[in-house]
Amino acid sequence: MKSIVILISGRGSNLEAILQAKKTMNLPVEIRAVIANRADAAGLSIAAAHHVPQRVIDHKNFASRDEFDDALADVIDEYQPDLIVLAGFMRVLGADFITRFSNRIVNIHPSLLPAFPGLHTHRQALATGVKIHGATVHIVTAELDSGPIICQAAVPVFADDTEPKLAARVLAQEHIIYPQAIAWLAADMALRDVARPQTHSQNVGHLGAPNVDDGTHEDFLRSPRIK
Ligand code: GRF
Repeated sequence: MKSIVILISGRGSNLEAILQAKKTMNLPVEIRAVIANRADAAGLSIAAAHHVPQRVIDHKNFASRDEFDDALADVIDEYQPDLIVLAGFMRVLGADFITRFSNRIVNIHPSLLPAFPGLHTHRQALATGVKIHGATVHIVTAELDSGPIICQAAVPVFADDTEPKLAARVLAQEHIIYPQAIAWLAADMALRDVARPQTHSQNVGHLGAPNVDDGTHEDFLRSPRIK
């Protein structure tokens, strides 16, 4: 089964959606740790309630962004995750960090990218007058909020919307598409393992068995949430 670590900065509602999907819908990933860049991140207590190891790497303890990124990367390496899941992680990660974990970092952004990268996306959507808004799960690349898109969810924008009302409508969709996207990515990684020729040492290590997932992703992919 593929493994993930989840990075948070605050509330942790997407973290909770992923943990719930694991608990109730067989989301086929092992959640090895939750890492926060703030000791007061509310999501840490959600991780604790689900008995997931929690770590804090406080960015304020580092003199530079690069030093923080290096410390964060070293802690992530302790868990050897297949995928790094950013769930409301409010630090911009540097190019060296992204290269170190190339194509293995995924993020959810509260807009239909490429519209409204950056902060205050719901405010931007209301100010612009768009009639459709939403959320995007994408692979993280060095350019902010612009990596390859895995999936998106769209919601209507109503004439009497406020920022909080629109944010809540989008967030409800985030909680559906993020676990779904993680399931797809994990299944895709497992399939690529099967397709890749096995080396002698891998075969010995796996007693000759291919490095395949255990099939639990099929339960998740068949679940009623999946269109
Ligand atoms: C979400 O809207 C997510 O799209 C954005 O930050 C917010 C995090 O919320 N990246 P939560 O901490 O998951 O509740």
